[in-house]
Amino acid sequence: MNNFTYYNPTKIEFGKEKQNKIGEYIEQSGIKKVLLVYGGGSIKRSTLYDDIVASLNKNSIEFIELSGVVSNPLLSKTNEGITLAKENNIEAILAVGGGSVADSAKAIAAGAKYDGDVWDFFIQKAQITEALPVFTVMTLSATASEMNGNAVIINDETKQKYSIASVLVNPKVSVINPELMATVSKEYLAYSAVDIISHCIEVYFTATTQPHFNSRIVESIIKTVMETTEILLENPNDYDARAEFAWAAIQGLNGLTPAGTAGGSFPNHMIEHSLSALYNVAHGAGLAVVIPAWMKWYKEQNIAQFKRFSQEIFGSDDADIGIEKLEEWFSKIGAPTTLKEVNIPRDGIEALAINANGTATMWGMGEYYSVETIIEILERA
Ligand code: NZQ
Ligand code: ZN
Repeated sequence: MNNFTYYNPTKIEFGKEKQNKIGEYIEQSGIKKVLLVYGGGSIKRSTLYDDIVASLNKNSIEFIELSGVVSNPLLSKTNEGITLAKENNIEAILAVGGGSVADSAKAIAAGAKYDGDVWDFFIQKAQITEALPVFTVMTLSATASEMNGNAVIINDETKQKYSIASVLVNPKVSVINPELMATVSKEYLAYSAVDIISHCIEVYFTATTQPHFNSRIVESIIKTVMETTEILLENPNDYDARAEFAWAAIQGLNGLTPAGTAGGSFPNHMIEHSLSALYNVAHGAGLAVVIPAWMKWYKEQNIAQFKRFSQEIFGSDDADIGIEKLEEWFSKIGAPTTLKEVNIPRDGIEALAINANGTATMWGMGEYYSVETIIEILERA
C-alpha cells in the first residue's frame, strides 16, 4: 500500500426528512445569508423548494436565488452566481439539485473569494486559497460531488470542460435523502449507475499499486449499484435500494477507493468530458460509450486486473467476457454504448480527440493520450 493522506471534511446528513433541517445545519455555522442555487425546476415540481425556504426562514437565514443551472453546467452561469455573491455579501452557497448544481455552487464559492477570473482555477493559472462554505441538498446521486472537492464546468466560449479539485470547496454539510431521488428519470438513473461504476474502475484498472482491499471496495460498490439499479428501474420508490445506491455513489468518489493506490488516472473521464463539451451528451451516457471502447483498447496493459474484474463481477475469468458483459449491461439499463447512439458522427472524432488531449495535458497525461491514441480509442466506439 502506498502512503496517503485521507482528509474529507464533509459532514453527511443521511435519511428521510433531513432536508427540513438544512436551515439548522447552516445556522450552526453562524451563517445568516446564502445564495440558493438550483437547476431547471425539478425542485419546484415537488415540495422540496418550499421545504428548503421554510427551513431557511425558520432559522432566520436570508437568501437570494440563482436558478437555471443546466446539466453540463456552464461558466457563464457560474459567473452570474459569483457576481450575485459578491454584490450581496453572501456568506455561503446552498446547492439543491444534482452534481451540476453542486459543482456550480463550488465554483461560485471559490470565485466569490477571488479577484480574478474564476476560470484561472480551471486552467491551473491560479490556486484556490479561500472559498465560501458550501452546503448541499442532493436530489440525484451519481457524482459524489456531495462529498468531494471537485467541480466540473464547461467554458461556453472555449468549449473546454475542465475541473477544479480543492478541499476548500468540499461541502460543509450535505443532506442525502434518498426519497428526494425517486423522481429521477430512468434515463438519468442509468447514466448515474454508469458514472458511479466509472469512478470506481478508473483507478482499479490503471493503478500500478492497487491493494486487494481497494479492489474489494470497488467490486462491492459495483455489485451494489448493478443490483439496486435493476430494482429501481422496476420500482423507483424502493427506499432501501435508493439509499444503498446513494451511499455507494458517495463512496465511489469521496477519496476512499484510491487511498493507498498509486499510479491511477481517469482516462475515461478525460475523454468523456469532450463528448459533453462538444455535443452536450449527458456525462453518464458519454461514459457508457467511452468505457467499453477504452477497456478493449487498454486491457492488455493490466490483464490480471481485467480478469479479476470479469471473475468478481460476472463469474468468468476471461477478460473479454467481463468487457462484453459490462457493455451488455449498460445497454440493458438503457445507456448508449456507441457514438452513433449519441448522434456523434465519425468525422467528429478528430475534434473530440483534440479537445480531450487538452484535458489530458491538464491532467498530466497528454503524451500518453495523444490525439492519435484518443482517435484510436474512439474509433472502437
Ligand atoms: O435541473 P433540474 O430540473 O434539477 O433537472 C436535473 C437535470 O436535468 C434532473 N434532476 C436532478 N434531480 C432530480 C432530477 N429530476 C427529477 N427528480 C430529481 N430528484 O437530472 C438532470 C441531471 O442532473 P445533473 O446534476 O446534471 O446530473 P449529475 O448529478 O449526474 O451531474 C452531472 C455533472 O457532474 C459532473 C459531470 O461532468 C456533469 O457535468 N461530474 C462531477 C463530478 C464531481 N463533482 O466530482 C465528478 C463526475 O465524474 C462528473 O464529471
Ligand atoms: Zn463521473
